[in-house]
Amino acid sequence: MIAEIAQSNKIVVEKSTVPVRAAESIMHILRANQKPGIHYDILSNPEFLAEGTAINDLLNADRVLIGGEETTEGHEAVAKLSWIYEHWIPKQNILTTNTWSSELSKLAANAFLAQRISSINSLSAVCEATGADVSEVARAVGLDSRIGSKFLQASVGFGGSCFQKDILNLIYICENLNLPEVAAYWQQVIDMNDYQKRRFSQKIIESLFNTVSDKRIAILGFAFKKNTGDTRETAAITVCQTLLEEGAKLDIYDPKVEPEQIIDDLTHPSVTESPENVKKAVQIHSDPYSAVRATHALVICTEWDEFVDLDFQRIYQSMMKPAYIFDGRKILDHERLHQIGFHVQTIGKKYQRSGLLRSWGIVPQL
Ligand code: UGA
Repeated sequence: MIAEIAQSNKIVVEKSTVPVRAAESIMHILRANQKPGIHYDILSNPEFLAEGTAINDLLNADRVLIGGEETTEGHEAVAKLSWIYEHWIPKQNILTTNTWSSELSKLAANAFLAQRISSINSLSAVCEATGADVSEVARAVGLDSRIGSKFLQASVGFGGSCFQKDILNLIYICENLNLPEVAAYWQQVIDMNDYQKRRFSQKIIESLFNTVSDKRIAILGFAFKKNTGDTRETAAITVCQTLLEEGAKLDIYDPKVEPEQIIDDLTHPSVTESPENVKKAVQIHSDPYSAVRATHALVICTEWDEFVDLDFQRIYQSMMKPAYIFDGRKILDHERLHQIGFHVQTIGKKYQRSGLLRSWGIVPQL
């Protein structure tokens, strides 16, 4: 389209990541359709915005990255784009590189962030098997200024449209470059994430006496993180899929995700072979208290702030006993929940089986 319309020289700025070298592909297409006398410069200018904080990330970017060709025209194009950013970003935070470095840096940034989550999640399994507490470990490790404290929150697993896609992109590039060891290294970040999602789902089933068949389970939170309605690659899908396969009935509440989206996600052919059964087994609620009523267990899949302030005394009264809470985001006050009477399980902290009541179906006080 650009090649058809352009009447003068153009700078094409490429901001997304795709599973090929984007700038190179654009260049090929433009050159194939080039009109005589018109020159194109392709710049790679990856964005580092996160969902829910995009405007702030744009206004206060840690850095801006601009990659261009190492030619005189390329350098001029980089300078022009840099000039736009210099209106609000300090010049020393605008990095200019060659195109390959820029594209690879974007993939590397997301791969490093995801790797930190997989690293702390791997340790959460060790904590549960020993007596260590992953929050304490993360704090102790993160206080080393060389490591830093961000992105060390153990969870049910990372989601979102970018981490997995970009790591797979990196793996694909490594395989094409005949670097199988490097590809396998990054694949492990994804494998660990899948393991964490499976491990958490399995823990729910094991705690509920190895069967969730016909048990009602409330799922609080479906988005891949708080403050967004986005469900792409959300860990909640894996948790729900596993519980549904085991015959559970799910009552789902999320403050932002549209009910149709949840049904679409859970009836997708990659998730189930029997969408009709899933529809029968899933109920979407517009209120967390209605979602938890008469359920055997409550599972936190997204760290929405409003979940922290729920009236857990009221929730306890309305649930079946024994009442279970599985906190996949480590946001609740577990000590208090214990005192109310809940059996609490979380990520990266050993479960205390104090006074476990091995019976089901005790009528809840509604
Ligand atoms: C991510 C990057 O953070 C952005 O810098 C990047 O620009 C963006 O991808 C992109 O490539 O477009 P985003 O996917 O919006 O942004 O979300 P993050 O805030 O990075 O969270 C990703 C996932 O990791 C979420 O599921 C979150 O819950 C999880 N997470 C994050 C943890 O489990 N633990 C943490 O400590 C941090």
